[in-house]
Amino acid sequence: MKFTVMTEDIRDIKGDLILIFVTGDWKNQISFLKTDIFEHIGKYEGFLGRDKQSITADIISGSHVRIVLVGIENSHCDNVFDLQTLIARSLQKISAKRKRIVCVLPEAWFKKFGPRNLGKYACEAIKLATYAYVKYKKDTKENNFENCEVIFTVSSQHEAEFTKGVSEGDIAAAATVYARNLVNEPGNVVNPTYLANCALEIAKKVKGVTAKIYEKGEIAKMGMGAFLGVSQGSEEPPKFILLEYKPVKPSGKTLVLVGKGITFDTGGLSLKPANSMETMKIDMAGAASVLGVFSQIDKIAPKHHVVGLIASCENMPSGRALRPGDIVTAMNGTTIEVLNTDAEGRLTLADALSYAIKNKKPSAIVDLATLTGAMVVALGEEITGVFGNNSRLTNEVVKSASESGELVWEMPLPEVYKKEVKSTIADLRNISVGRYGGAITAALFLQEFVGKVPWVHMDIAGPSYAENNVPLSKVGGTGFGVRTLLTLLKHYQ
Ligand code: BES
Ligand code: ZN
Ligand code: ZN
Repeated sequence: MKFTVMTEDIRDIKGDLILIFVTGDWKNQISFLKTDIFEHIGKYEGFLGRDKQSITADIISGSHVRIVLVGIENSHCDNVFDLQTLIARSLQKISAKRKRIVCVLPEAWFKKFGPRNLGKYACEAIKLATYAYVKYKKDTKENNFENCEVIFTVSSQHEAEFTKGVSEGDIAAAATVYARNLVNEPGNVVNPTYLANCALEIAKKVKGVTAKIYEKGEIAKMGMGAFLGVSQGSEEPPKFILLEYKPVKPSGKTLVLVGKGITFDTGGLSLKPANSMETMKIDMAGAASVLGVFSQIDKIAPKHHVVGLIASCENMPSGRALRPGDIVTAMNGTTIEVLNTDAEGRLTLADALSYAIKNKKPSAIVDLATLTGAMVVALGEEITGVFGNNSRLTNEVVKSASESGELVWEMPLPEVYKKEVKSTIADLRNISVGRYGGAITAALFLQEFVGKVPWVHMDIAGPSYAENNVPLSKVGGTGFGVRTLLTLLKHYQ
């Protein structure tokens, strides 16, 4: 999908569809189009330009131009999420057969969000709402917007800033699409080796990025017993993936991004029931988002050293798999009693976090993980839980999410629940003693591996995958976290 910004009079732009956002005063707002050229205009008398109302009309002149008016009167466009939802919904009215879509945004939005942000948000919303994963379909023509051009018409006063915003949005959306494609790809394609190759490919293409893959022998030598334990039931070799971005003029700070990279989670010997396993190819969504960020990182050129870490393996049952009750030792020497092999994410993350602390002197660590079903119970499918040990960093992440249109909510890390993950025979146990608060106890487990280093954990188990179509994403991977991380990289001081 291509985006263009133009200042010409809309009547001079050749498009086959014009999308205009209007209020109750819509007749005046489109008077420049000469309303008498619409077919059947009479039947639109009930259209009051209100939220969720829209009309579609064709211009009579025979030029096959279709006009879509989308009402925004009394719409609640208070934040980025609402704005992008509204724009995304308006696209549901449009067929991909329209190859040149002219889009006119209301002046009120320019005022509220500023031209640069509006350009960014509109571009992201359009690209993400029209994304479709069609790789394995015979018929890929249906509603495939890939070859469409979207032309924004803006006043010359807004042109420069709006255009900058559109290219920023294009970058963030491309990074998100990268993550979506990886999550949507099935588990028989995306295995640890595939993820490692993605990292190597990114390092080849993206300026300033290098990648190193640690193989099983090296993983063992580093003492990553928890990660290796999870991987031992699988035929696929584990890969520990290290990505690094080095800016030309480094700030001296290092930001570490960790992504959970279980390419398929059967639960291991603590096997999941069939219906819970159906979507478990998505258990590498955290890794996909980290790779998505690195795929575009040169374009946002952060001033910090950025490290990406993915401990990738499958979680399979077999004669070699971890048994409930086994004890493994993480890289930092902590022993863990594995009472449930389905709580595997925290074991792999324990070693990735230990690696970061030992080898990278991080100023801050952010991990993204499809960690617990309990998180989905707590906040539902569209909101990510954010846990942190440092209020400045946590606030920064929450702010970056809200500026990016991604929904998050801060969760507690209470000292009193720490007893839940203490083992009687090892240092830690990988599931809590009691039944409740599973997302919190999982986060408390991770906290044991970061010491005092500022750290944020994002449990993306719900929002990383859309079970049903939502305005910004069809069923499938959403690329959640990519936009928040990109914003964080830009703002982090
Ligand atoms: N990958 C799952 C968590 C998950 C659930 C992700 C639903 C996406 C959607 C994780 O490894 C897991 O199985 N967690 C267990 C932990 C439990 C055994 C303590 C869970 O949530 O049931
Ligand atoms: Zn699991
Ligand atoms: Zn898992």
